Amino acid sequence: MTVHLVGAGPGDPELLTLKAVRLLGMADVVVHDRLAAPVLALVPETVTRIDVGKGGGPGAGSGHTQEAINRILVELGRLGLEVVRLKGGDPFVFGRGAEEVLALAEAGVPWTVVPGVSSAVGVPTAAGVPLTHRGVAASFTVVSATLAEGRHPDWEALARVGGTLVVLMGAGRRAGIATALLDAGMASATAVVAVSHGTLAEEVRVRTTLGQLGTAAVEAPATLVIGDAAAVVLPPVSPVRETART
Ligand SMILES: C[S@@+](CC[C@H](N)C(=O)[O-])C[C@H]1O[C@@H](n2cnc3c(N)ncnc32)[C@H](O)[C@@H]1O
Repeated sequence: MTVHLVGAGPGDPELLTLKAVRLLGMADVVVHDRLAAPVLALVPETVTRIDVGKGGGPGAGSGHTQEAINRILVELGRLGLEVVRLKGGDPFVFGRGAEEVLALAEAGVPWTVVPGVSSAVGVPTAAGVPLTHRGVAASFTVVSATLAEGRHPDWEALARVGGTLVVLMGAGRRAGIATALLDAGMASATAVVAVSHGTLAEEVRVRTTLGQLGTAAVEAPATLVIGDAAAVVLPPVSPVRETART
């Protein structure tokens, strides 16, 4: 009947919205990305799952192009199925969600979109890294290290903006990003926190500086937080105490 683009959040299934959980419970088919996979535990066994994950470098992922994914969504929608298109983080933040909506709308397939917790904000927050801090950083900018047609962000302009810089899809390009920002005048001592596999059991946080970022061990997927707010060290996040209720 309808194709629902649903944000899966950064990984921890408890960060799903109530609406996402409801739609996953009533779906006929779930078409999911690689980064949305941790959330599949909440999908009933009877629901058909289609993995269309693209990421992970050459040879990795399901091999689907964006055009193929658009076609799959249109075909499933035309079959009259209730389809959840489960996307990592928020569907409209570097997720090509708008392209999928345009394809559905052009084909006359009804669609909805459900926001998700974007890794750009959710991963630093869950790791205890503030993006803004009174007197330290009054703004943050989110960029993707990879742009269409192999273009690069304007690191020189980004270095001038000030505030906190959040970089997605930048783990493998961290050396080049650091060099570009240093060349643009940012201080080598600028604080950086790199959070890999954020909100998941395998999460790794690396605290470093812009000068050292190129040689720091950072595994993808990672969210890089660059700027003075990343130097604000909060007390460790308290472990959640589960209290049994009778
Ligand atoms: C294609 S973008 C999709 C972003 C997604 N739509 C969102 O709002 O989070 C994928 C990038 O998001 C970041 N990312 C996604 N999940 C992450 C996680 N659990 N921990 C750290 N970074 C993550 C990484 O930078 C990764 O390369």
